[in-house]
Amino acid sequence: MSNSLIVLAAGMGTRMNSDLPKVLHKIAGAPLVVHAMKSGEALGLDHTVVVVGHGGEAVEAAVKDWNPDAVVVTQEEQLGTGHAALQAREALAGIEGNAFVAFGDTPFIRPETLQSMLDARATHDVIVLGFEVYDPTVRYGRLITDGDNLTGIVEFKDATEAQREIPLCNSGVICVDTQLLFSLLDEVGNDNASGEYYLPDIVGIARNRGLSATVVRCDEAETLGINTRAELARAEQMFQNAMRAEAMENGVTLHAPETVIFAHDTVIGRDAIIEPNVVFGPRVTVESNATIRAFSHLEGCHVSRGSTVGPFARLRPGAELNEDVHIGNFVEIKNATIDEGAKVNHLTYIGDAFIGKKTNVGAGTITCNYDGVFKHKTTIGANSFIGSATMLVAPVTVGNNAMTATGTVVTKDIPDGAMAIARTKQENKAGFAVKLFEMLKAKKAKGS
Ligand code: UD1
Ligand code: CA
Repeated sequence: MSNSLIVLAAGMGTRMNSDLPKVLHKIAGAPLVVHAMKSGEALGLDHTVVVVGHGGEAVEAAVKDWNPDAVVVTQEEQLGTGHAALQAREALAGIEGNAFVAFGDTPFIRPETLQSMLDARATHDVIVLGFEVYDPTVRYGRLITDGDNLTGIVEFKDATEAQREIPLCNSGVICVDTQLLFSLLDEVGNDNASGEYYLPDIVGIARNRGLSATVVRCDEAETLGINTRAELARAEQMFQNAMRAEAMENGVTLHAPETVIFAHDTVIGRDAIIEPNVVFGPRVTVESNATIRAFSHLEGCHVSRGSTVGPFARLRPGAELNEDVHIGNFVEIKNATIDEGAKVNHLTYIGDAFIGKKTNVGAGTITCNYDGVFKHKTTIGANSFIGSATMLVAPVTVGNNAMTATGTVVTKDIPDGAMAIARTKQENKAGFAVKLFEMLKAKKAKGS
């Protein structure tokens, strides 16, 4: 017995008004299709099959990027959800167990909900996930029930006015024996208002075969389907609110939770403080007792215990801050390790670098890491002092307990304990400034 997840993700989603396939639009930094896959994977399902449309290379890439074991199959023409699900048949040939069919544009189904559906398979053959909406104008399919039994599903377009009054709606998620699914789908026709093969029609077909069907219910928020940009924005908002609540629950202080933007995978430790207007891109972990000050942007980075970042700092992929590091305002760090207790406090770019323990990097320092073709590394030892406006022309190594004078352009390695100074000598010309001012003012008075 092994259970499978089939994610239908072939539609372009014309109501998004976008060149991007609908399921590649993102919520909290992850494509919708990845959210749909995540809920199944959390349940420990053995196989994931994603049905993509013709030319779905971009969707396939996003799917594989998340889960290299997922099988991607193509639905050449979008003839409906029933036709889409049928495309998974070959990928799941000979597989015994239950299959979930879920939609790539319905990203919020909780693993617990899928588990309840799996549990319901003990008593019924076909399990449909439903939710209640008391609005006869919402365009969801309606579930026709008779006590505990589900007798059929009618699409909004095909529903009578009386049927549209039914509050119980179809989420689209179905759980059924894998091979039975394909056998039922074989019988689905396209004689309806859209001329499409409807997945929900398998319920009526199963009932005609004397099989049973029932509904597992969940909250509407969980089954939110995204068809428009407005729905995408609403979903983002809901997801952010949930992440903020969860972070606070986990002991994170958010001064203004409504202004903090998380990614789907952001991890923040207990007693960390996140000031207002902080944005987390994907793959960020922040340890306990770290502080991320206002207006900072973090992505693909790790901030260790006791470190402070910002305000107005940018940590890009590969930024690794060890314990008690200080990163200040208008500092950008990319692909660099900043070792314990080091400080990079003002107006600085550190890229492709290692900064040793307790080293202080002065204002306006730049690691010149890119020559237009290659990236080069800068290594700085421990307890060193980099003077303000130092240009470190990589590849270059600065030793321990070393120093650079302000304004130095470092092109050669600096040994341990040495001070590098590379700038033109200053000359003071007595009285020259006064003379120059007079000359310029006279010129202005003449109007030239
Ligand atoms: C579907 C359900 C409806 C339910 C609603 C919940 C059907 C016929 N209708 O309607 O009962 O209330 O979801 O959100 O199932 N897709 C394909 N190939 C196709 C057609 C669709 O892969 O040929 C994919 C789409 O990319 C999408 C999903 O299936 O991810 C759902 O399709 P969509 O057209 O959005 O269905 P709804 O009209 O929302
Ligand atoms: Ca939809």
